Amino acid sequence: MIAPIVRDKAALRAMVTPWKRAGEVVGVVPTMGALHDGHLSLVAAAKAACDRVIVTIFVNPKQFNNPEDLANYPRTEEDDARKLERFGVDAIWVPDGDQMYPEGFSTNVSVSGLTDCLCGATRPGHFDGVATVVSKLFLQTSADQAFFGEKDYQQLQVVTRLAADLDIPVTVVGCPTIREEDGLAMSSRNLLLSDRARVYAPVLNEVMEEMAEALRGGAEIAALMPKALKRLEVAGFTSVDYLELRRADDLQLLDRADVPGRLFAAAWLAGVRLIDNIAV
Ligand code: PAF
Repeated sequence: MIAPIVRDKAALRAMVTPWKRAGEVVGVVPTMGALHDGHLSLVAAAKAACDRVIVTIFVNPKQFNNPEDLANYPRTEEDDARKLERFGVDAIWVPDGDQMYPEGFSTNVSVSGLTDCLCGATRPGHFDGVATVVSKLFLQTSADQAFFGEKDYQQLQVVTRLAADLDIPVTVVGCPTIREEDGLAMSSRNLLLSDRARVYAPVLNEVMEEMAEALRGGAEIAALMPKALKRLEVAGFTSVDYLELRRADDLQLLDRADVPGRLFAAAWLAGVRLIDNIAV
């Protein structure tokens, strides 16, 4: 079934209002398009849990701190709509910039604490952009449940926090990271990897899995860093934004995994920034 593509806020509201009146459970899967199997696993989870499912596609300029990154972000709307056909979603919400940020738009949603570290430290303003657009998507769709991947674990924590803090009546559901056969976490950015870089990209996950194993055995992360960084360098990673062990709940730094933790990494390969995280 080809889902209706909705581009206008009033049309979206007219569609959702009768669903809500009928007491149907509405699910939303926020995306920036370039859909891959990771996104589609979120759509499947939403379909299983909700009566109505809205997939949103909006490449949100406010969360890009680099104009080149925004310009290069893959835009594949037709392909995305085709990939969604087999799921029978109820609507694809594709607002343009004016629908999302009309002239005079002046509000910023900022979640403190959780956003000071990891991607928040290396991408200033990124999480304000995410928090602002996700708040709007929650309110525009009136979703009861919202589905996010654990691949962007910090984002998942941030949107969970903002929904609670702003009393937005939506349950945020985190879903496991989907990986390629060689371990590379699925991401729209993988499309930007050259053939050669694609061969070396899974080394990030390999290195992290080895570290996670050692951390589970009681090792201190500091002892594991030199070898891990060397392996990444040899594989062609030009810089590492972070490779850190943090608490799973509040993202505070850890030396060793003596409470539930997560190993986080962001590293650059041939001009593409790859991120990943693993439960420890
Ligand atoms: O994860 C993403 O694709 C984006 O950050 C999101 C949640 C759709 C907000 O623009």
